[in-house]
Amino acid sequence: MSFIADRLSAIKPSPTIAVTNKAAELKAAGRDVIGLGAGEPDFDTPDNIKAAAKAAIDKGLTKYGPPAGTVDLRKAISAKFKRENGLDYTPDQITVGVGGKGVIFNAFMATINPGDEVIVPAPYWVSYPDIALMFGGQPVFVTCPEDKGFKLQAADLEKAITPKTKWLVLNSPSNPTGAAYTESELRALCDVLLKHPHVYIMSDDMYEHLVYDGFKFTTPAQIEPKLYDRTLTMNGVSKAYAMTGWRVGYAAGPLPIIKAINMIQSQSVTHTSSISQAAAVEALNGTQDFIPKNAEVFKARRDLVVKLLNECKGVTCLKPEGAFYVYPSCAGVIGKSWNGKKIETDSQFVEYLLEAEGVAVVQGAAFGLSPYFRISYATSTEALTKACARIKKFCEELK
Ligand SMILES: Cc1ncc(COP(=O)(O)O)c(C=O)c1O
Repeated sequence: MSFIADRLSAIKPSPTIAVTNKAAELKAAGRDVIGLGAGEPDFDTPDNIKAAAKAAIDKGLTKYGPPAGTVDLRKAISAKFKRENGLDYTPDQITVGVGGKGVIFNAFMATINPGDEVIVPAPYWVSYPDIALMFGGQPVFVTCPEDKGFKLQAADLEKAITPKTKWLVLNSPSNPTGAAYTESELRALCDVLLKHPHVYIMSDDMYEHLVYDGFKFTTPAQIEPKLYDRTLTMNGVSKAYAMTGWRVGYAAGPLPIIKAINMIQSQSVTHTSSISQAAAVEALNGTQDFIPKNAEVFKARRDLVVKLLNECKGVTCLKPEGAFYVYPSCAGVIGKSWNGKKIETDSQFVEYLLEAEGVAVVQGAAFGLSPYFRISYATSTEALTKACARIKKFCEELK
């Protein structure tokens, strides 16, 4: 009998973190590797935010605070929701966690009983199903094919709902596809949800600020006020403010859920770092000037990567609305061979690509839709150009 708890038997380490680590290991061993696996901006945290953290240390903001997050930060989040999303949340309807991931973890721990179903549109961010599984939840995957822009369709949502459904997880813009839902696409999903009052919505808005070509971001609680009482609107500073390592995420929603999450925090991590929270206050209240500037840089990279990938034999790539990922199909290389080895899956494709050309990407299998792979374009134009040239060469040399 293993000493490790049974609840871990259904889960695995994050595959995206695994690819990042593998690329780092190969690099350390002297290989010329371009890592396109990491889901974090390559920009540094803006100076005003760093200065706020330094000031917090000097002011002695280094003590325990409320498990829900500091009052200052929850006020800043409340103001953010009003300003950017037209949503009214008081500070007591808001909780701050150890990154967005910490918030989702707590929300599932607070609400999932064994056997409860969580609808997860696929392809999905790798942590939703595993966190649900950890608490005995049952992920119900709904495939969102490429010809529907990798977006959940109302009819498919309707079919997936059962009396056991607890949550629908919606992530727009999406990790791993970059797909973002327009107002009318969300409207169609909200109409289905209105018919099923037992289903709660977890809206993961982490990539809200990374949308391109004038795309207008919206979120379910804003679109359908009748869903406000059963929507957990989740967001964070990690991606928009280049603050992945600071570990600050937050959510606003029904008081019973927020209180339950705060209780969990009071008995687990207590809260995320007081210094990180002070930095997040500055991120939300301070200048937002660099957000559109960074978005311009990401947009140019997206356009470049989509163009270059579509020049690779056997690869096709949609141009997504947001985030910093593309999710190209590698259907055209399945069945071909590299070095005498047949490529039967996207996992083999990415494995051989790393071996042959030193380009690290993540297999679609990790996100629940194959045969695809995910590229994070949160890296320099130079690295992206070089990586795409290597992918092109690899594809051309396949037999
Ligand atoms: C869709 C999505 N949600 C949540 C998170 C978690 O973000 P954080 O780093 O704040 O925990 C990520 C990070 O990769 C993500 O891609």
